[in-house]
Formats: sequence, structure tokens, C-alpha cells
Amino acid sequence: MAAAHGAVVTRRAAALALLSFLAGCGGSGSGPTAPTPTPTPPPAAEQDPLRADAEASGRLIGAAIQSRYLAEPLYARTLARHFDYVTAEYEMKWDPTERQPGVFDFAGADAIVTFAAANRMQIKGHALLWHQALPGWVAALPANELQAAIESHIAAVVSRYRGQIAVWDVVNEAVADSGGLRDTVFLQKLGEGYLEQAFRAAHAADPGALLVYNDYGSEGLGRKSDDVYALVRRLLDRGVPIGGVGLQMHVAAQNRPSNADIAANMRRLGALGLRVNVSEMDVRIRNVAGDLSARLEVQRREYRDIVGLCTAEPACHAVTFWGFTDRYSWIDGFFGPDDPLPFDESYAAKPAFFGVQDALRGR
Ligand code: G3I
Repeated sequence: MAAAHGAVVTRRAAALALLSFLAGCGGSGSGPTAPTPTPTPPPAAEQDPLRADAEASGRLIGAAIQSRYLAEPLYARTLARHFDYVTAEYEMKWDPTERQPGVFDFAGADAIVTFAAANRMQIKGHALLWHQALPGWVAALPANELQAAIESHIAAVVSRYRGQIAVWDVVNEAVADSGGLRDTVFLQKLGEGYLEQAFRAAHAADPGALLVYNDYGSEGLGRKSDDVYALVRRLLDRGVPIGGVGLQMHVAAQNRPSNADIAANMRRLGALGLRVNVSEMDVRIRNVAGDLSARLEVQRREYRDIVGLCTAEPACHAVTFWGFTDRYSWIDGFFGPDDPLPFDESYAAKPAFFGVQDALRGR
């Protein structure tokens, strides 16, 4: 939808430009002069780089990416210009990396690491242990073999990128939406200790990496957020090498945790000595009232406010969008057609981009 909107704006601007040119040619001032055409913003590739503003604010600004899109010039150019942090949206998960026991495929992950290194970007590996994107052979293992498989998978993946991947989402979404631990095959067969063992295996493979627990629906305050807080506190009390928490921030505009609650949650996690990151942000506007420009304005304010919460919290060191262009977002397939990201399908900067820019600039 945004691309169509963009096309309409372009045609109108061209028509206005032609009219004002023709009016100028008349020279006699005859007839009404065409209004000055609204300048269409330069393509995203020419906007001031977000990564410069992020660096000035002491944060990383990131996007989840897939290696298959890097061959698209505008995708690669926009990504490299605006972001200094990338997360593998899919290609570092268990299923794509070890589909069969001991048989690894790192092609996608390597391509992401190579691109990041060439563009001075830091990397977040995602995700070592998650109940989704998990090969069937893993879930079928008996407890003792499952423990060994987890340790060898983590050792193989993390050691391959030792010193190159600065941050790992070690465990993803282990807390149930209703609170308590999610009833995954890991919990069923290994008990809560699986989390500690995963973090310790990752630390052994790369002691220099920041190891993160990542989840959704725990961005503000409430039962699930309280249980994430209690979980990471238990891990810390046991001396587990956990260094951060990821707040995924998959939100619907005007229907999300309050700024105050998100700030309070970030603050209490920071008080544990943990680093916080907004790890998978996208802002759905499908259900926001008004025409597209009104909905994009609401989205701009949401991006500005949420990124501003991170820049205002010393413990928050990074914001990552889950994708960066509406051309490629998981949202459309999961929630239905939407425009959840800062760049539109043609890589033009949306109002949300300028909301992010304002937040990073402290405006
Ligand atoms: O790359 C293969 C392609 O080669 C194959 O032809 C195609 C058809 O099967 O599948 C492609 O893989 C898909 C992959 O996305 C890349 O597009 C997988 O099937 C599909 O399951 C996978 O979905 C990802 C999903 O996690 C499950 O791993 C989404 O892209 C990704 O946005 C989503 O991200 C999750 C986070 O990891 C955790 N937090 C929630 C978030 C949204 O669900």
C-alpha cells in the first residue's frame, strides 16, 4: 500500500512540476501559478544515516536480515547506510544450521557475517535454543541425548563465529504467555536447568560474547514480564553468564504497553546489572483509524517514543527492527497485510524513519 501511495505522490509531483515549468515559460504571470510541488523525499539511500545518530547516542541501530535479499542493490545499500547492527532473522536458528545430527549448513549465516564485516556492523546471533525452528530429530531425543545435542549444537555454532558475533540470543521465548515456564520439549525433558546449561555452553564457546535471554509480551509490566524478570534474576543468582535481556517489541500502534511501564521494566532489568535491547521491533498500523498518512503519523510517534525509551535508559544499548522495509516483513503472513517498518516497499523512508531519527537525536 505504501508503494502505491508513493507512486501517486510521484505522479502528482511530476504533474505539478510540469505545470509550474509551463507557468514559468508563460512569463506573463497569466493564469494561476501552480503551487510549489511538495518535494518528494530523496530515496532512503540518501537520507542522513541512522547509524551516525545511533553512534552519537551510544546505541546500536539494527535490523533483522536474510542473506537472500543481500543481492538486491537497494536492500544492501539501505541496510549498510543506516544500520550498524544486524540480526539473522532465520539463518542462525537450529533448523537451518543443523537439519541432521552433526550435519551443519552455515552458508546463510556466513553470508550475513561477511556482509556485516564488510560494512562495519556488529552481529547478533539468533537464536541458539528455541522451541520453534527446531529440527524434528532434536525434539525426539531422550533426555540425556537431548542435553548432549544442545551442548554440541551450541558449541559448534558459537565457536564458529567466536570473536565475530558479539551478542547471542541464547534462549528465546522460554516463558509462557500466561506466566511460568513455557512447556517446551526442553522443559519437559530437562527441567528449568536447560536454560543454565545453554548459557554455560555458549559462554564456554565464546567467553567474550554478550549472552541474552529474548522474549515477547514482556516489554512492559505484568505477569509475563514479572516472570521473565524472576527467571533472569534466578539465573544471575546461580552465577549463570547471562548479560542481557531482549524485549522483542512486536507491537500494534495505540495498543501496546505504556511508555512508563516499558521504562520501568528496562530500569529494573538494568538494576540487575543486565543490558537491555529492543530486539525485534515492528509497529503494526492495520487497525489504526484514518487514511494512510494519518496512520503513518501515528506510527511515526510510536517509533519515536519507543526508540526514545531506549535512548533514555542507560542499560538499553541497542534497538533492532525485525526487518527494515515493508517489502519483507513476517507481519503480513502472520497478522495480515500491514506496513510495520521504517522503510516502505520501495526503500523510501517513511514518517517512522524520521521518528527514529528524532529519538536518536534526542528530539
Ligand atoms: O529460507 C527458506 C526457503 O529456502 C524455503 O524455500 C522456504 C519454504 O519453506 O522457507 C524458508 O525459510 C523460512 C524462513 O522464515 C525464511 O523466510 C521458514 O520456512 C519460516 O518458518 C521462517 O519464519 C521465520 C520464523 O521466525 C520462524 O523461524 C520468520 O522469517 C521470522 O521473522 C520469525 O522470527 C521470529 C523470531 O525468530 C522470534 N520472535 C518472533 C519472530 C516472529 O515470529
